[in-house]
Amino acid sequence: MRQRKPLVVANWKMNGNSELVQQMSEALSVLKQPLPDILICPPVIFLADFPKHPNYKLGAQNLSEQLVGAFTGEISADMLCASGASSVIVGHSERRALYGEQDSVISQKVKVAIEAGLTPILCVGETLAQREEEKTLQVLARQLDAVYAAQPHLLAHSVVSYEPVWAIGTGRTATPEQAQQVHQFMRQHLAQYDAEAANELRIIYGGSVTAANCEALFAEADIDGALIGGASLKVADFSAICTMAKDS
Ligand code: PGA
Repeated sequence: MRQRKPLVVANWKMNGNSELVQQMSEALSVLKQPLPDILICPPVIFLADFPKHPNYKLGAQNLSEQLVGAFTGEISADMLCASGASSVIVGHSERRALYGEQDSVISQKVKVAIEAGLTPILCVGETLAQREEEKTLQVLARQLDAVYAAQPHLLAHSVVSYEPVWAIGTGRTATPEQAQQVHQFMRQHLAQYDAEAANELRIIYGGSVTAANCEALFAEADIDGALIGGASLKVADFSAICTMAKDS
């Protein structure tokens, strides 16, 4: 039996509305235990609309690396906690590519999140060019090491999500074998810092996961769940993925 409890994260990105909040919360509320840990990350404006329910928790998709002050448009870790978030996605490839977030700011965000009591879901992953140049493992080691150096509590207080950039929103999933190889590498890499914590760390996979392909991914030894974009906006598909994850 797997020692790490599976985790399924819904990343709505800049999608969704009050109707989806209602439909999703109702659908998840009637799922029968045992379930994986389920985390819904809608746009923060919808956090307060979700009824509280033991079947799921709520998270945010981003946070400020600053604590408080004149930072127009930003939302702090404390504000997220006050809005009902227990976790926050950090370093998603869309933040890295579209908003220029580098390892240094991502490390700071992880630090601020942990200090506020939020669980960071740290996203790492290589681009297609990096994979083709056979730099995948090197890139992942760099992304992980940068955050670990700034926040050694990373291992005990976070989740890592492997998100090959070429698989996000493209319909092109990493094969279960490709993903397992990378997850195993990351776990071994982090074990050099703390073997026990690396063994307990949940490493989930993200990138074009659907109800049709999730089972094979969940069956891999080092894949502890998934971060779902597109399919998390479809109530039936997302519920089905959660149901399948509980058995992995
Ligand atoms: P996708 O998004 O499931 O739409 O590919 C995944 C992600 O946001 O990481």
